Amino acid sequence: MTFDLFDSLPPEADDNPIETLAPGAVLLRRFARDDDDALLAAVRDVTDRAPWRHLVTPGGLRMSVAMTNCGSYGWVSDRTGYRYDPIDPDSGLPWPPMPAPFLSLAWRAASAAGYDGFAPDACLINRYQPGTRLSLHQDRDEQDLGAPIVSVSLGLPATFLFGGLRRADRPTRIRLVHGDVVVWGGPSRLVFHGIAPLADGDHPVLGHERINLTFRKAR
Ligand code: SIN
Ligand code: FE2
Repeated sequence: MTFDLFDSLPPEADDNPIETLAPGAVLLRRFARDDDDALLAAVRDVTDRAPWRHLVTPGGLRMSVAMTNCGSYGWVSDRTGYRYDPIDPDSGLPWPPMPAPFLSLAWRAASAAGYDGFAPDACLINRYQPGTRLSLHQDRDEQDLGAPIVSVSLGLPATFLFGGLRRADRPTRIRLVHGDVVVWGGPSRLVFHGIAPLADGDHPVLGHERINLTFRKAR
């Protein structure tokens, strides 16, 4: 589907859909756009069974991002720390299985980025509303750091902060729009990254929200 305001691209971006951000890290512009209906229907199925929640950090702060998970493991945070858990602590049940369109997209995006055979066992689903941010962090709770992270952006545009291997490295600011996919692995696997406070807007598909899927190999 096409939406003028959010989907118009400068011509150079159309010519060069695979953009290298750093060694081992690429931006695949609009890679997931044609899958948006299937992905969002699957998100609704997941959130029917594992509703959005605001996790608490080990330091006791409520995260502004609402989260849920699907797959064999889910990323959770509480006063005891961060971990991957096969059980949703809110329901006591296993997380919903990874929907087929999720697995397919993650595999295809990883492959386009040069990571063949990506088989994620965890997908963290993040929901941002205007003002929501995600501070700089590394994704380092996964046992298998040989596998990349595949991140899919849907809905309102966001400013992705893509830093270096040290927290103090000044991050590059990258605008991510509906359908963009970022893949980072190899020498970039442990880069610090985050999301600047989300600006308000009215996206034709998701209204005042941004949804991000991050696919991981947790075990
Ligand atoms: C994350 O780092 O887990 C999410 C990043 C994003 O929302 O783009
Ligand atoms: Fe992350």
